Amino acid sequence: MKARVQNTQQGIGLYIHWPFCLAKCPYCDFNSYVAEHIPQEAYAKALVQELKTALAEIPKIPLTSIFFGGGTPSLMFPSTAQALIDTATSLLPVSDNLEITLEANPTSVENQKLKDFYHAGVNRASLGIQSLTPTALKALGREHSVSQAIEALTIAKKIFPRISFDLIYAREGQTIKEWEKELQEALALAHDHLSLYQLTIEPGTIFAKQYRQGKITLPDEELSTDMLNTTEAITHQYELKAYEVSNYAKPGAESRHNLTYWRYKDYIGIGPGAHGRVTLDQTLYATERHKNPVKWLEHVRQNGHALSVKEALTPVEKAQEMLLMGLRLTEGIQAHLFKERCGIALMDAVNMSMLEALVDEDFLTWDQYCLKTTPQGRLRLNAILEALLK
Ligand SMILES: C[S@@+](CC[C@H](N)C(=O)[O-])C[C@H]1O[C@@H](n2cnc3c(N)ncnc32)[C@H](O)[C@@H]1O
Ligand code: SF4
Repeated sequence: MKARVQNTQQGIGLYIHWPFCLAKCPYCDFNSYVAEHIPQEAYAKALVQELKTALAEIPKIPLTSIFFGGGTPSLMFPSTAQALIDTATSLLPVSDNLEITLEANPTSVENQKLKDFYHAGVNRASLGIQSLTPTALKALGREHSVSQAIEALTIAKKIFPRISFDLIYAREGQTIKEWEKELQEALALAHDHLSLYQLTIEPGTIFAKQYRQGKITLPDEELSTDMLNTTEAITHQYELKAYEVSNYAKPGAESRHNLTYWRYKDYIGIGPGAHGRVTLDQTLYATERHKNPVKWLEHVRQNGHALSVKEALTPVEKAQEMLLMGLRLTEGIQAHLFKERCGIALMDAVNMSMLEALVDEDFLTWDQYCLKTTPQGRLRLNAILEALLK
């Protein structure tokens, strides 16, 4: 890696998508595929190529984070991560504390491989543990056992300075008492960050079909609200604060990469289906890459990239996106940053009488400088956004 520069206001994140998994989980609608044989070399070469093409276009601003997401990026060769990190850090200046995260599944992470990812430059691991009970792991169609999950966590803790893991709760039949117990166990194992997601039924998944057929039921709104309140209370006892709808961290341990999305800053996205938001000549562009891995590979081979969308965003589109992202955060949205980013004032972007009504109902707070959701509001984010944007 080359010389580091001090953090500046301006920076950019990099998301790299790895689309392969060992099995498709029945709840998951991420862009992921089960391949009998992963063409590792071809994908490594194409990802580096697409990264080079993307970096040639953007100004030389400091790189603040890299995130290997998926799919299951821990299935990639560590040498691929190394080549991508080296390419990015040699073509862009690097900010202080460059955060490099790898999503890893507890099945595909053997000791040696995690160490190699660390030596390649990864300094943060995010493990997909999902549950600490055998029946739930089975119901979620996971490939790993509770003991494998704990083993992966123990190994990862010895290697990486920063660790997070994901759990899915508000599952079918789960009681508050069961969740409290599981969460306490998780917190005893946790480092300084956790992602705790309530199970959602995503269109096109096996769970969506079973839900339609009445084979799966989910907790009602009252129970999910109680579960969320319990989650916030218990994590708080362990000094992990809710900083986003589903994310909990000790102060300073928040995921810098994900904050880039939620604070609506620039990031490059490469790999099948990856999205990006990049500023070129003072215009913010939304970018997307071909979703299908085979098609993506063909495009990169032919053109050096697989861009399928590159669209300049209008002030109204930017305002909608920034509200969508920023209201997920406990810190909310600063009005001056909103104006700077979107080119319109926050007060002109939303329905003000609706905003005042939502403040009265204790779903939002607004003091002319900052707009925030309350914990109650974060539970009803979709309805709030719909009302504000009318
Ligand atoms: C990119 S995904 C998976 C990363 C990794 N392949 C894994 O499975 O651990 C990131 C996280 O989103 C969460 N997730 C995915 N689908 C979900 C759903 N339908 N409901 C709730 N959480 C979900 C899971 O906790 C998952 O770990
Ligand atoms: S949850 Fe993770 S392992 Fe399962 S299909 Fe989705 S990306 Fe793959």
